Amino acid sequence: MFHGRRGKSSRLRLALGSILPSAGLAAYDAAFVFFCAMNQPARGSLLDIEHLDSKEILRLLKLARGMNPRKPPPLLRHRRIALLFYEASTRTRSSFEIAAKALGAVTTLVQSSGSSIEKGESLIDTGYTLRAVGADAIVIRHPAAGAPHLMARHLDIPVINAGDGMHEHPSQALLDAFTILRHKKTLEGLQVTIIGDIYHSRVARSNCRLLSRFGAKIMLCGPPELVPQVSATLVPGLRITRHIDEALRGADVIMLLRVQQERLAGKKIHARDYIARYQMTAPRLKLAKRDAIVMHPGPIVRGLEVTSEVVDGSQSVIVDEVRNGVPTRMAILARALGKGK
Ligand code: MLT
Repeated sequence: MFHGRRGKSSRLRLALGSILPSAGLAAYDAAFVFFCAMNQPARGSLLDIEHLDSKEILRLLKLARGMNPRKPPPLLRHRRIALLFYEASTRTRSSFEIAAKALGAVTTLVQSSGSSIEKGESLIDTGYTLRAVGADAIVIRHPAAGAPHLMARHLDIPVINAGDGMHEHPSQALLDAFTILRHKKTLEGLQVTIIGDIYHSRVARSNCRLLSRFGAKIMLCGPPELVPQVSATLVPGLRITRHIDEALRGADVIMLLRVQQERLAGKKIHARDYIARYQMTAPRLKLAKRDAIVMHPGPIVRGLEVTSEVVDGSQSVIVDEVRNGVPTRMAILARALGKGK
């Protein structure tokens, strides 16, 4: 019934279809590696920061700067964008939807609950379905790392990663860079401190990759359960500290992260200890540079990783980040559909 773009063997598709809905990580990875070797993603796909050329990053940031969500150019009129969300989302989903509609595109939202995914349809078959009904691009969020990459290798339309498990969240890193550059002249030499649950954070992974590429110096801070020593291997030059005072001294940019309770899988983090050692408070913020900015990708758990005083304080750019999600995602979608000149 479904056809991939280069005559895939239906036997393989069936095998994958039966694996994916219930696969363990090993089976998933094996399928991922196998299919990665088969096809290149369609031009305009945005799968991760790791493999995105620096020139492309700069081009996207420039394009985003030129996007005015109040006076949007109708670049994507009559184009159809499917938003395929297997995980909860507020900011990412709404800003992709608003960005697409601002550019004149039609969107359709498919969530795992209430769709054929609930009946066991595989990731790939869902992709073929969306392609068959006329989607010109798919924005996908999935709990498994690599899911957007897998889908991209089966479809001839661009696939945009809106967060894949603990792997990457490229559009968040782009909008964070966009936000930083609204407040700081350059990324080169900036001291960026990321505090919190780095281990489970796709946002941290994408940000470390993007910001370090352009010369930012990154310090990670948190307890070993959330910032294991191996995190230091993520990008060259990255430093780790367990002491928030050390992390904050001299910081230009402070990124706070939520403790991802849903991914803790048995790890015990005691809120009282975490608050005592790592909560971002107004007195602690004074250790950073006077013009330091405070960021958070959301969702924020006020009173845990950060106090309301900091969230709503004058150094917080958290609302800006959310707002900047729209022009950044307009740029990503325009590029995806060949309008990113
Ligand atoms: C994400 O989707 O990764 C979020 O923006 C961060 C979080 O869930 O804490």
